[in-house]
Amino acid sequence: MIIALAGFMGCGKSSVGRELSRQNGWEFVDLDRVIEKYAGKRIADIFAQDGEFCFRRQESQCLYRILEYQGESPLVLSLGGGAPLLNSHTLHEKCVCIYLEATYEDIIAHLGSLEDSKRPLLSEKSIRQKLAERAPIYQEMAHYIIKVGGKSVAQIAQEITEQLKD
Ligand code: S3P
Repeated sequence: MIIALAGFMGCGKSSVGRELSRQNGWEFVDLDRVIEKYAGKRIADIFAQDGEFCFRRQESQCLYRILEYQGESPLVLSLGGGAPLLNSHTLHEKCVCIYLEATYEDIIAHLGSLEDSKRPLLSEKSIRQKLAERAPIYQEMAHYIIKVGGKSVAQIAQEITEQLKD
């Protein structure tokens, strides 16, 4: 079983995924880190040097390799914020999908100063627009939706564990 965590940049997918796997003794993989290893460079450099189209191709290739996982232990997969754009149906079919739902304010609070952000697709103007575009995709893909606002990483991970028991 693969438990895929989806949601906008800054909603806490990586930290919640790590914590969820720690709490339950499950495997963990972060798609962005796999892409960086595969490409041999940082995500920001892939965007800058090769462009978003190339990044999306590499992202899908890495995702499909991960989806071949057949291990005994559940695998927690933290997706990149844009990974569902091209792959939402496959993710819905092959994984238990959890949408970590964050409001615009949650995202800003989590990411801190936008100038400091290393995320290439992030600018103040684009966050609201992208969130509005992507929220329906995350919602449709999700088997479970967890609101992250005001909760700690450990609380969110526990909530996911409870949901998965149902
Ligand atoms: C992206 C989100 C990033 C990373 C890349 C593109 C997006 O991951 O994959 O910068 O399109 O939303 P995080 O959501 O982990 O920041």
